[in-house]
Amino acid sequence: MLQKTDFSYYIKKLIVTFIYPIAAASIIISVLPNWEPREHWNVLLSYALLTLFCAFAPINIFNARLTLGGAVMFSGIIMFGTWAGVWAAFLECLIIAFLYKPQFSKTMANAGQLIGTCWITGFAKSYLDMSGLPVFIEDTVLIFVFWITNTILCSIGIAYFFRLKTYQSMKSMITSGTMSYLLFMFFSSIGTRIVGAFDIQALLPIIVIFLVIRQIFHQYFDNLIALEEKVEKINDLNHSFLTALAASIDARDAYTSGHSQRVAHWAREIAIAIGLPKPEVDRIYYGGIIHDIGKIGIEDKILNKAGRLSTEEFAKIKEHTTIGYQILKQSGVFEDLLPAVRSHHERLDGSGYPDQLAGDHIPLIAKILAISDSFDAMVSDRPYRSGMPVEEALKRLRDGAGSQFDPYLTEVFIKIIESYSAEDMHRFTKQVRNEQLAVTVQ
Ligand SMILES: [Fe+2]
Repeated sequence: MLQKTDFSYYIKKLIVTFIYPIAAASIIISVLPNWEPREHWNVLLSYALLTLFCAFAPINIFNARLTLGGAVMFSGIIMFGTWAGVWAAFLECLIIAFLYKPQFSKTMANAGQLIGTCWITGFAKSYLDMSGLPVFIEDTVLIFVFWITNTILCSIGIAYFFRLKTYQSMKSMITSGTMSYLLFMFFSSIGTRIVGAFDIQALLPIIVIFLVIRQIFHQYFDNLIALEEKVEKINDLNHSFLTALAASIDARDAYTSGHSQRVAHWAREIAIAIGLPKPEVDRIYYGGIIHDIGKIGIEDKILNKAGRLSTEEFAKIKEHTTIGYQILKQSGVFEDLLPAVRSHHERLDGSGYPDQLAGDHIPLIAKILAISDSFDAMVSDRPYRSGMPVEEALKRLRDGAGSQFDPYLTEVFIKIIESYSAEDMHRFTKQVRNEQLAVTVQ
């Protein structure tokens, strides 16, 4: 699996750092010098001004920043041909490079995806022009060609630079203002066709309409952003509450102090290493924080018993997964953390508890927590025994890969632990314990 991940990373690297820049340069060289007719200097100038205006006036929408650059390029393609779109794309790349000063490789990748999108859309247009389709249908098809091409090319670039899986960056792009993006493309095509039919004087009312729509969007998204900030504050409060609750559970046994936070920490490290997006990384972290919340319903004498548990006592301990699940379910919040609480003791071979889930039936969050939970349990000191050396714990994880633990996640985790020096590991454990005590005392 690791080899597969590396392979796809190198393929993305090849596409983004080599093919994108070459494609951008080739398209510019082959398209721009051939713009026709030659008296279209005013078009070059108009599109330069439009691109400049759009680059400096982005709209902050719900979870993304939208510029109207795409709409300008698109209108250039349908009105004058590929060269006008490529011209606008080329200028936008220069402006972005000037404004945000990204790394050279990012500028070149951005040029590749934008100019490539224009070229493919122009190519599609040359075929559609011959089909005799009504203009409205042709424009609608071209909008989708532009959007899909741009989404795919951009996702590959984002996936490469941020070490994500391509489908994850694509999903994130699609959920970041696609409807607004498409809407602007439709306005752009309608506006362009009107200008085409009624000449340049039709441009003024269209610009006014654009500005009004832009203002409405601004207000709408400003309200949404304010609402999102409120929700975030409430979530932060809930998370603080959960952290304090988990700390009080851990504190019932001084020897497991900090357990939940360490489990959460390792789980987060795994989630980051396998390239999950930030919201998923956060969910896994908080899943780790409250995975043992059900221990609140287990008697102290069983929970803190030194030595071997009887069969009945072990059966009682096992109930913490379903007790925690019920507590969380009845609370009606953090439903997305239910699999963490219920399934973190499931085993890959189906012999875990409480549901004897096997293989892919075990949620990813639970598979990750099973590893981080077992590791911390093995290396932590207990009243009746000292913690196991890290090397021994890793050996046991490796032995359990395939039967108890997911083999790919286990390999990822072992690599993470091996990247910590013994000193760092000791310091981390000590620090988490002190933080935990501080939370409990407050
Ligand atoms: Fe547990």
